[in-house]
Amino acid sequence: MVVPESQEKMYDPPNNLQRDAHVPDFDSYQAMYRKSLEDPEAFWKEIADEFFWKKPATGPMLQYNFDVSKGNIYVKCMEGAKTNMCYNVLDRHVREGNLGEKVAYYWEGNSPGHHATITYRQLLSHVCRCANVLKQMGVKKGDRVSIYLPMIPELIYAMLACARIGAVHSIVFAGFSSESLSERIMDAQSSVLITADGVYRGEKLINLKHISDEALEKCREKESCSVTTCLVVKHHSMRTISGTSCNKLQISWDSQRDVWWDEAMADSPEECEPEWLDAEDPLFILYTSGSTGKPKGVMHTVAGYLLYTSLTFKYVFDHHLDDVYWCTADIGWITGHSYIAYGPLANGATSVLFEGIPVHPHVGRFWEIIEKYKVSKFYTAPTAIRLLMKYGREPVQKYDLSSLRILGTVGEPINAEAWQWYYEAVGHGRCPVVDTYWQTETGGHVLTPLPAATPLKPGSATFPFFGVEPSILSEHGEELAGEAEGYLVFRRPWPGIMRTVYKNHERFENTYFKKFPGFYVTGDGVRRDKDGYYWITGRIDDMLNVSGHLMSTAEVEGALSLHPAVSEAAVVSRPHKVKGESLYCFVTLKNSIDFNKTLEDELKKLVREKIGPIATPDFIQNAPALPKTRSGKIMRRILRNIARNERDVGDLSTLADPKVVEELFSERSEAAA
Ligand code: WTA
Repeated sequence: MVVPESQEKMYDPPNNLQRDAHVPDFDSYQAMYRKSLEDPEAFWKEIADEFFWKKPATGPMLQYNFDVSKGNIYVKCMEGAKTNMCYNVLDRHVREGNLGEKVAYYWEGNSPGHHATITYRQLLSHVCRCANVLKQMGVKKGDRVSIYLPMIPELIYAMLACARIGAVHSIVFAGFSSESLSERIMDAQSSVLITADGVYRGEKLINLKHISDEALEKCREKESCSVTTCLVVKHHSMRTISGTSCNKLQISWDSQRDVWWDEAMADSPEECEPEWLDAEDPLFILYTSGSTGKPKGVMHTVAGYLLYTSLTFKYVFDHHLDDVYWCTADIGWITGHSYIAYGPLANGATSVLFEGIPVHPHVGRFWEIIEKYKVSKFYTAPTAIRLLMKYGREPVQKYDLSSLRILGTVGEPINAEAWQWYYEAVGHGRCPVVDTYWQTETGGHVLTPLPAATPLKPGSATFPFFGVEPSILSEHGEELAGEAEGYLVFRRPWPGIMRTVYKNHERFENTYFKKFPGFYVTGDGVRRDKDGYYWITGRIDDMLNVSGHLMSTAEVEGALSLHPAVSEAAVVSRPHKVKGESLYCFVTLKNSIDFNKTLEDELKKLVREKIGPIATPDFIQNAPALPKTRSGKIMRRILRNIARNERDVGDLSTLADPKVVEELFSERSEAAA
């Protein structure tokens, strides 16, 4: 059996990247990092000087209280300053930076024939027209606008239009159900909903207008519906099918409420004075995925988020103006907010905006797009890498990927095998892989390598970004020094950290600050190795305690994934009479490999070898597919139900494919019966 390189192998940054890098070596990183902690005022002031402030700050760059025993939790950045996000990411480039003709986005549709190019000047014009439309509809500073759109340019226009007039956008991923959409509209009390008639995702036609109607109906059933206007984009792919609206797409229309986007925009003026906002005014709310309980409206504010997303983008992707950058996330998630919209635009970057999916119309679509636009920086999720790995190297080798310089991942721990494949098959060993750890709550990257400076260890998010001070706490709240494993917390804020849970500051304090007073608690486990590298071990609630030993599901998953037959693994806890908890493992096998006893034994042996006998899986079952949310996160709650044979699995509405659950019950491990 071939086991890929050990996780501890180090990869030095390639020389070619270091020549013009913003942070050329590890010493420079350390010096800048020290400065960011020792003199945050000077550090952030220098960053702020690059942006436009209608009025300068009267307060310090950062003020905060992280200790519940000393009063309310708060973070303030640049109190007294007035600015506008949209002005900084568009007007500043067009008016002052000579970037008007630079491409902001290459839009690539679901079908390869659909594409568009949008320059910064054009983007500004669309955004101003949309801003005027919203104003006409009565939207004012502080009002909420819900946006339920696919990955089309109008999504960018709409969010920036909100930012321009000081409205607070609440983007809901257009794969969410009408139930989830209605819940988010009701919590935000939005006055306008922006949606589209429909969209093709791969081969599948999704009637977004119908889902939106249902959601608004649900709001009305529960309480009076706050939405008075529904602005509807006529999707390009619908138009090409029938000339007007797609025949297959039956949509209903409420003429009191519904307005076609094109008609509203047609004679809307191209000039719109930005609303000058306070630094701490809200920019947006984004609801975090509902894997546990009611979704939380994570709130970010103008100045801090601007500084932090622009700085992380510049350094983590070592951005230069001639780059073509592509982040494959959906704007409905924080990754899209920070690293498709705000961070790249603040830097005047040229990005690919991709509407489709990695396997449509063929499994080489990602690689084809990289070749087409000569993408130099590519950012995706481990789940996408593992999906594409299943098809082997041949679809990758068909395309010229020599433009690539940096690869990035986000969203979950990346197992060594996927890292290796990404590094070799996609990056040809020339491109560092920046494994960026962060959360909706953190606004931007908090643990991450810098591509030309940080020697990499596959699977480690390496070191903290500037201004970020991590600490590891034991169950009892003691700070652990040196090599250690425990709770990942942060002892001070950086400008881009969330400010509150919308309309529920108490929930904000309880969720993130109560357990360990004085610290922001991420909810993730982490290990620091002898070289000071941080390794995210998975959510703390996914920690297992087997015979008194704390271990992480991610660690066991990483070991299982090293087996050449395994494409993906997920491990949950199952109660055990003697050991307290036992390990129940789900493995998805690569195409056409059968699950059998020999394989099961090999897998157990592998985990024993990689982690130790204590981590030997008690049960391993075949999983044709894993239950995932639409953003690709494995829903462990459901896996725990299956492991325990608890048929009442509760709410499945956030699952991408609920059928998976029944399949897994029927495949349950015999030993566990
Ligand atoms: C996980 C996504 C390991 C982590 C930006 C975190 C990661 C949660 C990584 C946040 C990474 C994200 N390595 N785990 N590089 N990145 N996570 O809010 O558990 O959708 O708490 O933000 O994803 O997910 P969210």
